Amino acid sequence: SHIPVITIDGPTASGKGTVSHLVAEKLGFHYLDSGALYRLTALSALRKGTDLHDEHALAKLARDLPVSFKGEHIFLGADDVSAAIRAEEVGNSASKIAALPAVRQALYGLQLDFRKAPGLVADGRDMGTVIFPNAPLKVFLTASVEARADRRYKQLIGKGFSANMDDLLKDLRERDERDANRKIAPLKPAEGAYVLDTSNMTVDEAVAQVLGWYAALK
Ligand code: C5P
Repeated sequence: SHIPVITIDGPTASGKGTVSHLVAEKLGFHYLDSGALYRLTALSALRKGTDLHDEHALAKLARDLPVSFKGEHIFLGADDVSAAIRAEEVGNSASKIAALPAVRQALYGLQLDFRKAPGLVADGRDMGTVIFPNAPLKVFLTASVEARADRRYKQLIGKGFSANMDDLLKDLRERDERDANRKIAPLKPAEGAYVLDTSNMTVDEAVAQVLGWYAALK
């Protein structure tokens, strides 16, 4: 496809979501939050009591997700789950089911459908490595685990969830470990990706860097 895609991959709480969103806004591009799809699948499973090891049942849930996107809001059926999918328990479950090949396969086509004119910013773990390997610009956004725990802490408190710094550090390390070491679509920079460490950068600086790389393509 000739429709441009900017892939932004990286670990949890690296600032990917915020940066991707703003880059999409600046360019007037569509935005894919692929992590939300794994979170939606996890939330469905938790609500239905589906066993988080039952690959076949989880893949079916993923394939049949009654998901719709309205502006900033994400719905499962008639239910606005925008806040519910951000809970730590849902993120942890998402990271577990994301290791199952049939679940990843079930969400593959849905992700490709987001590539629409005039362009797409795709945020996730395997956007540049698996889903859009021919993207003209690939970015790997990262930050130290301490900087990420600090950001996640503020994010959770801001959304009215409770949070504990030690638990967050432990969860982030566990999730990093799981995302980086799984057999299928492990988290790693795509071939040709620019690596951006945002530990000591503001959001605006990171956005400007990505936009600068994009402008330089032409
Ligand atoms: O980015 P976010 O924290 O919302 O993603 C939740 C989980 O979904 C991640 O921990 C990761 O395991 C999984 N994920 C994935 N591939 C993606 C996006 C997210 O495996 N493209």
